[in-house]
Amino acid sequence: MTQIKKIKLPKLIGHRGLKDLCPENTIESFNKAFDIGLKFIELDVKISKDNIPIILHDDSLERTANHFGSPTEYNYKELKKLDAGSYFYNKKTNIIIPKLIDVLDLCKKRNGGLNIELKPNKGFEKTNIRKVIEVTKNYESTEMFFSSFDLLSFIEISNELPNSNRSFLIDTFNDYSLDQIINISSVYNSNICGLNLSLLSQEVINIIKKANLLITVYSDNNMNLQEVEECFNLGVDSIFIDNPKNLSEYL
Ligand code: G3P
Ligand code: MG
Repeated sequence: MTQIKKIKLPKLIGHRGLKDLCPENTIESFNKAFDIGLKFIELDVKISKDNIPIILHDDSLERTANHFGSPTEYNYKELKKLDAGSYFYNKKTNIIIPKLIDVLDLCKKRNGGLNIELKPNKGFEKTNIRKVIEVTKNYESTEMFFSSFDLLSFIEISNELPNSNRSFLIDTFNDYSLDQIINISSVYNSNICGLNLSLLSQEVINIIKKANLLITVYSDNNMNLQEVEECFNLGVDSIFIDNPKNLSEYL
C-alpha cells in the first residue's frame, strides 16, 4: 500500500478564505485569513473554457460574480473582468475571480497551507483534475490536501496522486452510509474524512477514528465558540471556519 506523508492539520482552516469577512474565494479573503493568523485556507476549484483552474464555489457565476452561466462557458480573460466583490460590498469593486496558481503563489509567499476542494465540474472532472495537478506540482514545498464530495473527482485525484493527502467529503448519509465512506477511504487510501456538522456524534467520530482517519468539519453557518469546543471535545481534528471571532485560542 502506498504510504501517504501525513499532513498535520491546524485546528482552524479558513473557509473560502474567511467568507463572512470578505468576498469568498478571493485573494482578499485568503489574505485576511493569513493576516488573522490562520495557517490554512480552503478554496473551491472550477475550470474555465480554456482549461484554467479558477476559484469559484457555485456551478453558476450568478451569486458571487454578478454574471450568468457556468465558468466553463468563458475563457479566463473574460472571467477576470467580472466583479467578484460587488455581491459582498453592494457596490462595484475591482476584486476578481483568482486563478488557482495565484492562490498557490500567495500561500507560498505567506507560508500557508491550503485545502483544494475539487468541485464536481460536471463533464469536466478529468480535465479539471489533470489541470489542477499540472499547476500544483510546482508547489511541492506548500502544504496541501485535496477534497471532494464528488466520488468521480475523488477517485480521479486518488488514482493520479496516490501519495497526496486526500479527504472524501460527506454532507449526508443518504448518498453513502458510514460503512461505505470508510470503505471508499480505505480502497483509495485517503487519510482524512470531512463531515457536515449536522452528522456529528460520538459514535460517528469513534467509527471514523477507528479507521485511522483525520476528521474535518464544516457547517452551513459559522460555528461559535461553544460549537467549536464541542467538536474538539468529540475528537474532531480541524474545523472550516467562516469567521474566527472569539476563537483566538485555536489560532
Ligand atoms: O470542505 C469544506 C466545505 O468547503 C465544503 O462545503 O459547500 O462550502 O464547499 P462548501
Ligand atoms: Mg468548499
